[in-house]
Amino acid sequence: MVFEMLNMLGIKKAQTVLDPFCGGGTTLLATSEKGVNSVGYDIMPFAVFVTNAKRHQPKVEEIEKIEKRFTDSLLFVKNGKARFDVETIHKAFTPSVLSFLVTLRHEIGEIRNSRVRNFFLLAFLRTADFASIAKKDGGFLRITNEGVTNKRKVFDYFKKTLGEMKRDIFIPGIRFTGNSTAHLGDSRSFQDEGDYDAVISSPPYPNRHDYTRVYLLEEVLGFGDNNSKIKKLRYAVPHLRFGQV
Ligand SMILES: C[S@@+](CC[C@H](N)C(=O)[O-])C[C@H]1O[C@@H](n2cnc3c(N)ncnc32)[C@H](O)[C@@H]1O
Repeated sequence: MVFEMLNMLGIKKAQTVLDPFCGGGTTLLATSEKGVNSVGYDIMPFAVFVTNAKRHQPKVEEIEKIEKRFTDSLLFVKNGKARFDVETIHKAFTPSVLSFLVTLRHEIGEIRNSRVRNFFLLAFLRTADFASIAKKDGGFLRITNEGVTNKRKVFDYFKKTLGEMKRDIFIPGIRFTGNSTAHLGDSRSFQDEGDYDAVISSPPYPNRHDYTRVYLLEEVLGFGDNNSKIKKLRYAVPHLRFGQV
């Protein structure tokens, strides 16, 4: 769809597109694939992270060097009971899985190379989503009877995900040549003096999606958000209620 819009709008290589609600980065990745530059903004740290992590990937050799550190010994680290002031986190995981996720997150935080660290963090967040009994359901998280209670299975999934992501780096025929970066920002108030040739975006779903609920696990486990930060974000996002305009 982004390719079609670029065609329709007559956007050529080296021109620049803005996406003020970039989410997981579809516009930024697609434009970059066509050699078009792009700038994205999103209010959720998780969305900005995902876009940049997908766009700026490390080399496979760099990943493999670090992967060796992620051995079974992590399964036996004792770090006490994990405490978060966001209650849903404790509902979403068993104490042992949560404690293991905290260990894994800590180990990822120790990786110096930021591209490699982000790559591992992306795999970690996919793993947390897989392990959680709180599943994304439209605009909310719903407690289900799916999810994983065994930390060994969680670790296996993490390693499998890393393997799949490594293979994805080499999708034949796809090369990102346009410059693109996502920034954290509220599209209603950011100051940007950029000169854009087009705006391509998929804006937030009015009145339906509370992104702070849908991406709660990612925000808390990945970016250390606590209750008060989540609430602040929550108040910032729902003002985009088109029904009230
Ligand atoms: C429909 S999604 C975008 C989907 C995106 N095209 C993708 O590829 O994932 C809308 C995005 O708008 C973001 N958003 C909501 N309110 C915002 C605001 N005030 N400023 C910037 N981004 C906002 C949400 O966090 C969400 O990621």
